[in-house]
Amino acid sequence: MDWTFLNNSFFSKENVKISPFDRGFLFGDSVYEVIPVYEGKAFLLEDHLTRLERSLMETKIKKPISWKDFPKIIEELVKRNSYKDQQIYVQITRGVDEHRNHIPSKNLNPTCFISSAELSINPFRINPNRPGLEVKSVEDTRWSRCDIKAVTLLPNVMALREANYLNKDEVIFLKEDKVNEGAASNVFAVFSGVVMTPPVSSKILSGVTRNHVINTMKHRNISFEEQELTIEDLYKAEEVWMTSSTKELQPVSKIDDKKLKLTQPEDSIWLKVLNSFFINT
Ligand code: PDD
Repeated sequence: MDWTFLNNSFFSKENVKISPFDRGFLFGDSVYEVIPVYEGKAFLLEDHLTRLERSLMETKIKKPISWKDFPKIIEELVKRNSYKDQQIYVQITRGVDEHRNHIPSKNLNPTCFISSAELSINPFRINPNRPGLEVKSVEDTRWSRCDIKAVTLLPNVMALREANYLNKDEVIFLKEDKVNEGAASNVFAVFSGVVMTPPVSSKILSGVTRNHVINTMKHRNISFEEQELTIEDLYKAEEVWMTSSTKELQPVSKIDDKKLKLTQPEDSIWLKVLNSFFINT
């Protein structure tokens, strides 16, 4: 049986329920986090909770009363669910309102929902020589506050559904020809041995994995720059990677119909970074 947590109590997945008058359901008035758990331990938990706190502040959604106990609640949920590695989903909505009204009532109590699912091992850890991800470039039609980890992911879902239909693994969102990020990941590329990624702005999420990868590269003295990239730059890159809490770091081998001319995995920077992923944490 899978366990979840809602507001103040643990519920089995079958028995957990929320009201349809919840503003998260009616308006997507809600923010979230996805936190990986390896062998029972939440990875980079503090970074995820710091970003969640920022999302709450930016949206003026109140912190749930259980906020201070989050590390303990997550630990308990992880124990109750039997998977070796897990992905914890935390969603906080503005709360349940009387009626559907764009303007929220005052003094709402936020709804806090936490669930857990199995996290499958990054397949590139098992076999670095497997074919890389195939991705589809898509015009970025999202709002201009992608720095907030908001639940309103319809453009991401539409783009990924379409990509999946074409047997693609991810999308790369472009504004004109500038690379922003994936539908659920950040983008890195390597040019003449220098790793580059678009700078943090309101156009992308400041990925916890992105920041962890940057720190890992600093420790390993790998040359790195934050740099605007175009889709044409990516076609010419020695390596292209996508990073996220569920993907860790995964290489890309094809963008649209362009097969990339890639460095072999054994000589690549991505594999060096992936092999250092859990050092210094
Ligand atoms: N998404 N950009 C977007 C739009 C994302 O949705 C995500 C992660 C990332 C990477 O962020 P992080 O490294 O903190 O996971 C970047 C999660 C995994 C999801 O929605 O399931």
